[in-house]
Amino acid sequence: MRTSLYASLLGALPAVMSIPVQPAISNTTALPVHFGLLVFPSFQALDVFGPMDVLNTFSLLFNSTMHLSVIAKILDPVTTVPQRTARMNMTHNEFGQKIVPTITIKDALAAKKKDGTPDDIDVLIVPGGGGTREPILDEIDFVRTMYPKVKYIISVCTGATILARSGILDGRKATTNKRSWVWATSTGPKVDWVHTARWVEDGNIWSSSGISAGIDVTYAWLGHVYGEEVANYVSMSSEYKRWINSTEDPFAAIWS
Ligand SMILES: *[C@@H]1O[C@H](CO)[C@@H](O)[C@H](O)[C@H]1NC(C)=O
Ligand SMILES: *[C@@H]1O[C@H](CO)[C@@H](O)[C@H](O)[C@H]1NC(C)=O
Ligand SMILES: *[C@@H]1O[C@H](CO)[C@@H](O)[C@H](O)[C@H]1NC(C)=O
Ligand SMILES: *[C@@H]1O[C@H](CO)[C@@H](O)[C@H](O)[C@H]1NC(C)=O
Repeated sequence: MRTSLYASLLGALPAVMSIPVQPAISNTTALPVHFGLLVFPSFQALDVFGPMDVLNTFSLLFNSTMHLSVIAKILDPVTTVPQRTARMNMTHNEFGQKIVPTITIKDALAAKKKDGTPDDIDVLIVPGGGGTREPILDEIDFVRTMYPKVKYIISVCTGATILARSGILDGRKATTNKRSWVWATSTGPKVDWVHTARWVEDGNIWSSSGISAGIDVTYAWLGHVYGEEVANYVSMSSEYKRWINSTEDPFAAIWS
């Protein structure tokens, strides 16, 4: 069992007999090492930090060797704030936060490890947000080029439109944000869109519904790769009640 020095520091759980015991990672195959997070202006904060916090906590508890690249067109901090383009100029809102990329799209495509072999991304996470309404051609090209090299791709909310426009969802099942359903699904006429779903798994592509669903797809994916006990232990440590049933989706009816 992999134990962590940090486990006892995380949350002052009462010392009762039923205190959860950290499970071992049951999967002995080669596990993902290199995670990539694609960001662009006007990304949705929770689409990014929901999945990231699940992975941060998993990494902390399980002493994983995983590492993260935050990928963007340029290295300037990337904001959640709506951009002043014709499409997003309705609110003039300045309220938001920034994330600092670690590598550009161009460099991520050519990245090499110390031994000279390609530093491919094992798991690529693609958030949504207002910025997906822009052409974002570099981001779409990046997904198209990177997809054959990744082990998994996880999209959150309208991040699925980036996958759809790259063509990788053609003929596959996927879901996306329910409030933006009509626009979002129009970006992928050849996609088999699933309306009532919190998340959808099709091969190595995991897509989720709006915003907070990114947390649930990440837990589901974590359970798939590292074991359900591991995913449940991380969710208990985060005091998060997981959404277990992927086809239970009240928001599909609310926004239809
Ligand atoms: C993490 O794993 C390494 C290698 O197995 C070990 O040397 C180290 O003590 C572990 N750290 C923690 C915090 O468990
Ligand atoms: C955004 O709105 C402001 C204020 O109405 C206007 O001055 C500006 O030209 C608009 N920008 C774009 C790109 O539409
Ligand atoms: C173990 O992880 C691999 C690689 O991510 C995955 O393909 C496989 O389904 C996992 N196996 C189990 C039993 O969870
Ligand atoms: C999952 O939710 C759907 C929709 O509410 C329901 O029909 C189905 O029975 C549920 N599945 C399980 C295993 O509970």
